[in-house]
Amino acid sequence: MTSTHQECPPYYESHTPSSGIRPARARFESDAAELDLNGTWRFRLLPRADAPTGGFEDPEFDDSKWHTLPVPAHWQLHGHGRPAYTNISYPFPIDPPHVPDDNPTGDYRRVFDLPGDWPQGPAVLRFEGVDSCFAVWLNGTRLGHSTGSRLPTEFDVAALLRLRGNTLAVRVHQFSAASYLEDQDMWWLSGIFRDVRLLSRPTAGIDDFFVHAGYDHTTGTGTLRVDTDAEARITVAELGLVEAPANTTHEVGPVDPWSAEVPRLYHGVLATTAERVPVRVGFRTVDVSGGTLRVNGRPLTLRGVNRHEWHPDHGRALDHATMREDALLMKRHNINAVRTSHYPPHPDFLDLCDEYGLWVIDECDLETHGFEQVGWRGNPSDDARWGEAMLQRMRRMVERDKNHPSVILWSLGNESGTGQNLRTMAEWTRQRDPGRPIHYEGDPDSPYVDVYSRMYTPHGEVDAIGRHAEPTTADPANDAHRRSLPFVLCEYAHAMGTGPGGLADYRDLFESHDRCQGGFVWEWIDHGIRRREPDGTEWFAYGGDFGEELHDGNFVADGLLFPDREPSPGLVELAKIHEPVRIKPHPESGTVRVTNTRDFADTSGLTFHWSLTREGTVAVEGHLDVDVLPPGGTTEVELPRLPETPETGGETWLDVRAVLDRECPWAPEGHEVAWGQALAGGAPLLRPVPAGADPARGEGVLTLGPATFDPDSGALRTISGIAVTPPRLDLWRAPTDNDHARHGVSVAAEWRRIGLDRLTERHIATTVDDDALVVRTRVAAAASDLGTLVTYTWSGDADRLLLTLDTEPDGTWPCPLPRLGVHLGLPPELGTVEWFGRGPGEAYPDIRRAARVGRHTRTVDELQTPYLRPQENGNRTDTRWACFRAADGTGLRVEGHPVFDFSARRWSTHALDRAQHPHELTPEERIHLHLDLAHNGIGSASCGPGVLPRYRLHAAPHRLRLAFAPLR
Ligand code: GAL
Repeated sequence: MTSTHQECPPYYESHTPSSGIRPARARFESDAAELDLNGTWRFRLLPRADAPTGGFEDPEFDDSKWHTLPVPAHWQLHGHGRPAYTNISYPFPIDPPHVPDDNPTGDYRRVFDLPGDWPQGPAVLRFEGVDSCFAVWLNGTRLGHSTGSRLPTEFDVAALLRLRGNTLAVRVHQFSAASYLEDQDMWWLSGIFRDVRLLSRPTAGIDDFFVHAGYDHTTGTGTLRVDTDAEARITVAELGLVEAPANTTHEVGPVDPWSAEVPRLYHGVLATTAERVPVRVGFRTVDVSGGTLRVNGRPLTLRGVNRHEWHPDHGRALDHATMREDALLMKRHNINAVRTSHYPPHPDFLDLCDEYGLWVIDECDLETHGFEQVGWRGNPSDDARWGEAMLQRMRRMVERDKNHPSVILWSLGNESGTGQNLRTMAEWTRQRDPGRPIHYEGDPDSPYVDVYSRMYTPHGEVDAIGRHAEPTTADPANDAHRRSLPFVLCEYAHAMGTGPGGLADYRDLFESHDRCQGGFVWEWIDHGIRRREPDGTEWFAYGGDFGEELHDGNFVADGLLFPDREPSPGLVELAKIHEPVRIKPHPESGTVRVTNTRDFADTSGLTFHWSLTREGTVAVEGHLDVDVLPPGGTTEVELPRLPETPETGGETWLDVRAVLDRECPWAPEGHEVAWGQALAGGAPLLRPVPAGADPARGEGVLTLGPATFDPDSGALRTISGIAVTPPRLDLWRAPTDNDHARHGVSVAAEWRRIGLDRLTERHIATTVDDDALVVRTRVAAAASDLGTLVTYTWSGDADRLLLTLDTEPDGTWPCPLPRLGVHLGLPPELGTVEWFGRGPGEAYPDIRRAARVGRHTRTVDELQTPYLRPQENGNRTDTRWACFRAADGTGLRVEGHPVFDFSARRWSTHALDRAQHPHELTPEERIHLHLDLAHNGIGSASCGPGVLPRYRLHAAPHRLRLAFAPLR
């Protein structure tokens, strides 16, 4: 028998996106009956999409031997199949619309009864999200199939429903033709991962409606029109609108507008004789006018993040509490905007954005990035066969989400190249909803969009765009159009690992050019999957940890939150950068300058406190009266008369903080939204550099002040009896993801090339003179003629030891240095650090705004930042002094002359560099202490620009001075 090739493609390999589904419509709750079909379903996983169904759709089918699986969930996170991560690459041959024969396919079954009072009449089965393609049977009858993983699908089911024993059977394919449209940078995870419900649809009910609530900023009045096919009436009692007809524009008089800063919602009801739908109305008008994106007549600054849905145990199947936590964490970190990268989120998240106030770019579930790897050959965006599938995606998003005031821009999708289908999506959207501008980044000419959007654009180029001085593009009409548009960075500041550096510099650009209206940091959360070792140790997996053949490693861990939603130092920095009020104390003139940086809200609700600290301890504090400032307003406030700083009192700092004066929906009373500080007087508490102790040679030992040295090599052995491993010049750091620069210029590769990870020291000379021990060495790597000449000059008095480290490059260095300082070993029991300097969090030259000068305490273990892939972290900067103590309080004090950076960990830099996950790091019997003059900046070259020149650490003559004293 000859085998025949299948002529008619199966539905999962067809360009046709769906069959049998209802037209897209708004998502809303109403008083009509509904049945929650989430819960425990029967489940089996088959290896191929063409596996016979075996009659599983038949109500009589026996599924008692099947597994159970929760809905909503991804089957890979419940022990069926495995997660896989790729960024751009399709995990299958690019052979559209075909997908591999090995195509995991999940069959789901659920039997349900209708409640006794279930009404007669139309009923709809609604799936909020199924990844990636599914066919549905109810009571043995096939309803149809659908694609569009992050989009709702509805089927009419009234004719098939019975009171008892309804059998719902769903077959879900991991891969389908639609997978070509869903190449987002995320885990490939499948299944029914959003809610499933049965909705009764009253015959005279409301199938769909579109709320248009405009705000005229010149008159302060609102208009309300609710478009619907139903015989409906709208009531918003607060506006005096009672049973007003739909499809009519109502002038509702003065209203409080909606904004992300003041998210005023009016609660109303849209009703027919058969159904009542609660509606939440936010009056706002979005436009692009005079080259700026405005809401209610005011230009916006988008202080945004890109949010993928993520939970370390549940993947993209998010519960309501997690969504709420995201919204609250954003608000508490001064974030005002979200791009729903790269698909419409669970609809509840948009309710939260309406409620708490976040500007939203709602993005279509579309990305065809993998085609870039073949020169965009065959890209669906420019292939008419994919036209309906792409347009349907847009339609389903716009219709679902059109009633959310928080949604101010529609985005066509992400990284899908260029083509007619995108233009068609834009044209349809513009006609359907003229009230929202359109975003798409992937077409550099921007001919059919309303904002000019780019990603990872270096600072210099953003500046040029801000000045309308970007290079011209080929088509003069397109060029002129793009030049007339406001500019947003839909992605910037890649928050992968340590960093991102350079945030403050972006903010300064946003503030100095009207055209630059902010951007969205990439990205909100690391998509790490929680795993547990047999002993219970938790860690988070990334690409490759599930044995994937093709994967993109830890590129999936590039968020401002760790997977468990602990804020990373990058988020703390972002919160500081985006403070809604800017506070600049000027102790010399006895004033504080306060500026309201918000676009809509005044400063009522904030209260201001000041404090004067001496060497980190509060000396006096009080309340500061600040008038309520309008958006953009500035004031100079007189400080109360500050007490004189005693000469010997150390440094005096003036701190001013703005906190919430009462609980608000997203944070408790006392939540700090902004702070500023300035040196108010005094001088470093450090005693003058000691000198005067004579080096004394003894039996195999050289003594200098409190320290002993090896008399030949000059290597330090003890300080007041504390055994140390001698300080050695160190230039190496475990490269950060941003040093590695997967998508940029890798400075880490250069560092390794010149051997900074394998430096050796050649002793040149040890000389002992009257009051100093001088050791000279040359530090260099095998196979390289580059070196660093090092002079350690040790001096001291009876109880302090001073090191002056002088370095000089030998040869011409091709790149900045990772760090410059010394590494030494301390006994493991000195595990608590108290320091006076910037903190409490880590800081590097280009990510240090959130670190404030003060007195901080952490254990060595707490100094570590658990980036999913271990790398340089935990540096503390501008340290005046640091005390490393054992439990009994004894230990070692290190002083800077004037300041130094430090990091301390229980493993070496090399171990940190080698480890792939934090739990692989094992504590050694010593503390590795790094005392540095400086680090190179961090930048965000893991996917974007590197370290700005002003934050680079150049190989040049440097001097670091440190004093060591015992703590008794
Ligand atoms: C962008 C893309 C994102 C993500 C990011 C890197 O190009 O739009 O989805 O991949 O790069 O993390």
